[in-house]
Amino acid sequence: MAARRPALRVLILAAGQGKRLRSKTIKLLHGVAGRPMVAHLLDAVRALSPVETVVVVGHDADRVRTALAGSGCTFVLQREQRGTGHAVLAAAPRLPRRGPALLLIVNGDLPALRTETLARLVDRHARSRAALTLLTVELGHPAGYGRIVRDGEGRIARIVEDTDASAAERRIAEINCGIYCAEPAALVRTLRRLRPVNAQGEYYLTDAVRELLRSGATVEAVLHDGDAADVLGVNTREELARANIALYARKARGLMEQGVTLLDPARIWIDPRARVGRDTVVYPNVLVEGPSSIGEDCVIRSGTRLTDVVVGNGVEILEHCVARDSRIGDGARLGPFAHLRPESRLEAGSKVGNFVELKKTRLGRGSKANHLTYLGDATIGPDCNIGAGTITCNYDGTRKFETRLGRGVFIGSDTQIVAPVRVGDGAYVAAGTTLVENVPPGALAIGRAKQANVVGWVARRRRAATRPRGKSRTR
Ligand code: UD1
Ligand code: CA
Repeated sequence: MAARRPALRVLILAAGQGKRLRSKTIKLLHGVAGRPMVAHLLDAVRALSPVETVVVVGHDADRVRTALAGSGCTFVLQREQRGTGHAVLAAAPRLPRRGPALLLIVNGDLPALRTETLARLVDRHARSRAALTLLTVELGHPAGYGRIVRDGEGRIARIVEDTDASAAERRIAEINCGIYCAEPAALVRTLRRLRPVNAQGEYYLTDAVRELLRSGATVEAVLHDGDAADVLGVNTREELARANIALYARKARGLMEQGVTLLDPARIWIDPRARVGRDTVVYPNVLVEGPSSIGEDCVIRSGTRLTDVVVGNGVEILEHCVARDSRIGDGARLGPFAHLRPESRLEAGSKVGNFVELKKTRLGRGSKANHLTYLGDATIGPDCNIGAGTITCNYDGTRKFETRLGRGVFIGSDTQIVAPVRVGDGAYVAAGTTLVENVPPGALAIGRAKQANVVGWVARRRRAATRPRGKSRTR
């Protein structure tokens, strides 16, 4: 009978500050592909369905807790950050003390880590009888990482940290990724025996390797067989940039495999959580943020930023548009240079043209606002035409007021709508009107000063201007 595998528990080390970033913000909250780097790691871990995920927090603990609220993990406080071994000990009271148990320990600074990589390590560990199994990778430039020292038979002997390594050890290409699978009771017992005698004066989790071997336990090192970028810890701003590029590139590859055209994937940044439909074409320098959704057969031109948007099918978004927390219906057209602020909604087939800003506004089916317009707190029915230079005056300095337009309304150019105002179905508003009252259906509203033509005025003015100076008109 095959032995039943013990339930998986995960421990994420997230208490360190990350000094090498030289930042006011702790390392794990730095954004990678639009989210704190530790959030990506939690996604990869969640897919393993562990019975419990414990995050060790310390530096800026409250901010980390807030950032991870709702992720389903629990937190343990490491009051002083005295090293990765010390961090595991901080969580010891939460770990099973006896019986076979399976603990996956992951450094929090691994945003590109894949679930498959973790699953493979857990598998290898569960099948071997090792007390500890760790993941390694070979690098052309291993500087900064802990090196794997192997004995004459090629078995792992210990890990030496970069700061403690001799010149010969620094030449070792195989590094420790900071991903471990362990039998928690044995590991905790071993960590309690460690002393912080090293360059950093810290309790190193990595010293458990040498200690476990000394006590007769087995330690295994599994060489990562995929892309090294997946398993590299982020310590510097350069590595942060590299992780960012890696995650966006991975997303781009996935989208192209699903039938999306990305004209220059290295210059397109699509949030890993976003969805893009088949045959949509994305031009360079487009940013899609948050769990946005974009339909099929859309075209998104350069310089556009879409954040938390839902875009239907067959939508065309021209250059340099910004849209946030908004919905764009099938076949709608936006831009160039349009701005959709939160809670805007373009119904199917509607059009928003250049230098038009919408806020909390619904533009009905087939309606158009093509030029130089501000629409705020407005509900606009279907088939309306909003002329150039229309402005909803929705704010009196204290409160916001609503504008409501029925179906088929025509608003002439340069109209100011002093809200609250309602305009009935099919009504016309003459260009240049300052609208202050409701307009009944089918009516024409016109509110502008009457025009006067002064005949011959221009010629008279020119004659006056060319008359010699100093001479009196009456002489
Ligand atoms: C660690 C490993 C190194 C490995 C590298 C991989 C140790 C001693 N060294 O080095 O062998 O090659 O990761 O990226 O483990 N943390 C705490 N509490 C602490 C200290 C750290 O929770 O007291 C957390 C940090 O927030 C971080 C993780 O542990 O997420 C790793 O710490 P870090 O300082 O980045 O370790 P490295 O020096 O990179
Ligand atoms: Ca690190």
